[in-house]
Amino acid sequence: MRIQFLRPIAVCIAACCIATVPTWAQDANLPHLEKRGVTTQLIVDGRPFLMLAGELHNSSSSNLEYMKPLWPRLAAIPLNTVLTPISWELIEPSEGKYDFTLVDGLLAQAREQHLRIVLLWLAAWKNGMSSYPPVWVKQDTKRFPRAILHNNEVNILSTLAGASDATRDADGRAFAAVMQHLREVDSRDHTVIMMQIENEVGILGDARDHSPEADRAFATPVPALLTQYLKAHRETLDPELLALWQHYGEKSSGTWMQIFGDSARADEIFMAWNYARYVHSVTTKGKAAYNLPMYVNTWLAGEDTTPGDYPSGGPQPRVVDIWKAAGSAIDIYTPDLYAANFSYWANRYHREGNPLFVPETNGGTTGAANVFYAVGEHAAMGFSPFAIDSFPEGTTDLGASYRAIASVAPIVLEQQATGNVHGFNLTKEHPSVEFSMNGSVVHISLDEIFGNHSEMGFGLILAMGQNEFLGVGKGFRVLITPPAPGQFKLGYASIDEGTYEDGQWKPRRRLNGDENDQGNYWRFDARSIKVEKAVLYRYE
Ligand code: DGJ
Repeated sequence: MRIQFLRPIAVCIAACCIATVPTWAQDANLPHLEKRGVTTQLIVDGRPFLMLAGELHNSSSSNLEYMKPLWPRLAAIPLNTVLTPISWELIEPSEGKYDFTLVDGLLAQAREQHLRIVLLWLAAWKNGMSSYPPVWVKQDTKRFPRAILHNNEVNILSTLAGASDATRDADGRAFAAVMQHLREVDSRDHTVIMMQIENEVGILGDARDHSPEADRAFATPVPALLTQYLKAHRETLDPELLALWQHYGEKSSGTWMQIFGDSARADEIFMAWNYARYVHSVTTKGKAAYNLPMYVNTWLAGEDTTPGDYPSGGPQPRVVDIWKAAGSAIDIYTPDLYAANFSYWANRYHREGNPLFVPETNGGTTGAANVFYAVGEHAAMGFSPFAIDSFPEGTTDLGASYRAIASVAPIVLEQQATGNVHGFNLTKEHPSVEFSMNGSVVHISLDEIFGNHSEMGFGLILAMGQNEFLGVGKGFRVLITPPAPGQFKLGYASIDEGTYEDGQWKPRRRLNGDENDQGNYWRFDARSIKVEKAVLYRYE
């Protein structure tokens, strides 16, 4: 009540200040990415922020009345961030005339529920196709040319066709207008904390565009900017890209086919370069207006697929280096991670300065487990199951995971920076994991007591001090041993379940007896997610 009463006064003071505070002073506190210790984190209002998020269905946020009842449900999950699409067609229904009613309404609705937003800029491409540009773009095939696949013009905007860069520039102008508007209405509140540019770009149906301009560009030398980048970053290139480049003689000049071979892989690299040039250009224009962190997402290649079965040129791990060579405006390359081998893809995206953010993935029990792995093992800055607005109401598995992680988020974020946190997701096929932490070896395995075995287990463990550990999760047990056998032994001095309230640890039951397998293991049983602290003692 008191806070609500004070808010109008605060708003008034803020409003009075806006007129006098110079632009640079407003920008200093904008949401941004920051390298902290061993990782890169999202900083919001001066503090590291973990996005416990969900993405809406594509069309939900096209209507404020439709959205109205959803926000409280999303807050109750509990999310702290909603990935919210906005589209070029609704922002610029006729050329040069912008309509921000929807954007303003979405911001107001989110603020009421104290939710943050990541806006998805659905513009020239969504899932490789061009359904979101305004009709004035769709109708004008001369000014905004289409790609040609297998000798047929398809209704997909081309990154290359046409004498001018009309599509790229029109898209960039509209995006800059959005960012300029956000600067005007949100640079104090920071409701919008990040932007996604386009959605799952790449050419679908063929490995590359075959419009005359594309064919011409494909037959010309690879730009020096790209070959120089490959040479300068040779030691850190994605292994698949390095292997391909080496296979064709590691050339530093030549056409696309001469450097990357006569195959769909060369087509994919060529498309990656051209989508990247386009997207970096749009992003640069948006950032010049309002500098928020910006990322692109990826429709991941399935097993035994070739470029064109999935959008060819999108930032697959093996072409992320091509994207990076084409520009630096994009801050993060992200996977839409629905694949079963979650850890494989998380590993491939969390590398060489690219932090992990999972903008689309599964929810349910799968998501409830994977979020621990992503946040704990890969310092993910966010996790966001798709179609969050059709999740069931009431307690959900994902909600239980989010609630538990949120309660320890400040500690997890601190330890992500030191590297003293690990996450895991155990199944019968992968029943155990082991890692070093604070000079000890931590062995995690599926929980087991009196012959009863857990079928699955997930969680994270972090080191609070030399002999103190914090754990969150369910269905696993922990054994902590010295780095080398023989020197000394380690035992559990205490294991307490508890909660964090306003940053203060509130212990509840002291766990002993069956609850810690008579002192042998630190146990997290399979019934519900627990937060527990263990303190160790040494003995000879
Ligand atoms: C991935 C896309 O990025 C989303 O917009 C949506 O179409 C989902 N696929 C559907 O599962």
